[in-house]
Amino acid sequence: MWCSLMIPTFLFLSFFSVGLAPNPGSATNENDNYPPFWDQINGDIAEFPVQNNKIIVDLWKYMDRLKIYKILITESNKYFALFGENTRGNVLWALTLFYGKLFKTDRFSAPLNSSMCAYEAGGSSCISIDSGWGGFNHYVIILNFLGAIESEFLGNLPYEVELISREEYRSNFCYSIEECRASYPQAMDTANRFYKYLQSRKMVSTIKDIPQYDTDEDTAIRYMWELHQAAIDIAKPKLSDESLYSSKTERDFSLDFLLAMEFCEAALYRPYFESSAEFLVGFPHRLLTDQDRDILISNLSVREKALLNAVKLISETNKITGGLFLTTWKMAMNSEFARAAGRFLIKRLLSIPSL
Ligand SMILES: *[C@@H]1O[C@H](CO)[C@@H](O)[C@H](O)[C@H]1NC(C)=O
Ligand SMILES: *[C@@H]1O[C@H](CO)[C@@H](O)[C@H](O)[C@H]1NC(C)=O
Repeated sequence: MWCSLMIPTFLFLSFFSVGLAPNPGSATNENDNYPPFWDQINGDIAEFPVQNNKIIVDLWKYMDRLKIYKILITESNKYFALFGENTRGNVLWALTLFYGKLFKTDRFSAPLNSSMCAYEAGGSSCISIDSGWGGFNHYVIILNFLGAIESEFLGNLPYEVELISREEYRSNFCYSIEECRASYPQAMDTANRFYKYLQSRKMVSTIKDIPQYDTDEDTAIRYMWELHQAAIDIAKPKLSDESLYSSKTERDFSLDFLLAMEFCEAALYRPYFESSAEFLVGFPHRLLTDQDRDILISNLSVREKALLNAVKLISETNKITGGLFLTTWKMAMNSEFARAAGRFLIKRLLSIPSL
């Protein structure tokens, strides 16, 4: 036990002191944090076309996924009124802002031709089915959307939803409740649990005409992150191939970043609007090339280098300990005090210029 506690303790102590350095750069213009075209949709399922009595959704289009994120945010806002004004306390902001960031940084483009499905195409942009990031995000959005439908969180929809499937990598992806349930029953249960939990919340008071629900902060955040992780766990073995990324450096970064997210999730990192935007400040603004392998000499910003370094350090420490680092970290995050310390450490780690 002592031995297994050494890693987090060591890390904590070593960064605690460095962590007192000033925090260089922070979330800039707040409107930049919203996903592109957020204001052009209204978060209503009626925005999707209906054909033959079916709501038609194409998850390989940027706007269609964005509409789903906005529907989920709109429908769940009331449960999070206690955690932030103007809906900023919604725990789904983390996934939503990250989605926009992936698009803005061209991570949904085709690995072999970065002008295909590029950010520049604007609101009509596709999400390349050859993009590893696009694939990961597919699982995140589909589990959320189908979980919300299956648990009846979205109420009675006027029509059945039909997700347009693609022939490419057909066996990699699922496109309906039946299909996803057959392949990933546990992940679907995890998705249902989050949306059922919200539905079970009761209105307890009204503050300035805004109803407040008895949502437990840690429970909601835990269920949301567990849903996210269930999606990543399905996707990882299918989407680790180098050919799905613009470079080997980008591939390694993607997998390391998702591993680092597991550490954040265990600490119940706050997925609210501001904390998510702050977390993403250092997310590299462009695809990484193999010239970026040496982080110190790459031309990325200070915060981007800090994030890359942090993610790499976490991944390498986990590798040399044979995965014990993550296991131990998860075990250590068993009290509110430890999780608060964990979150503090993560924030500091993300803003240290170089290690
Ligand atoms: C790359 O994609 C763009 C946009 O879809 C297309 O116009 C161009 O022909 C493609 N280039 C190659 C080499 O395939
Ligand atoms: C920064 O580095 C990238 C990748 O090595 C390169 O493509 C880009 O042109 C560089 N940008 C500047 C402003 O030097």
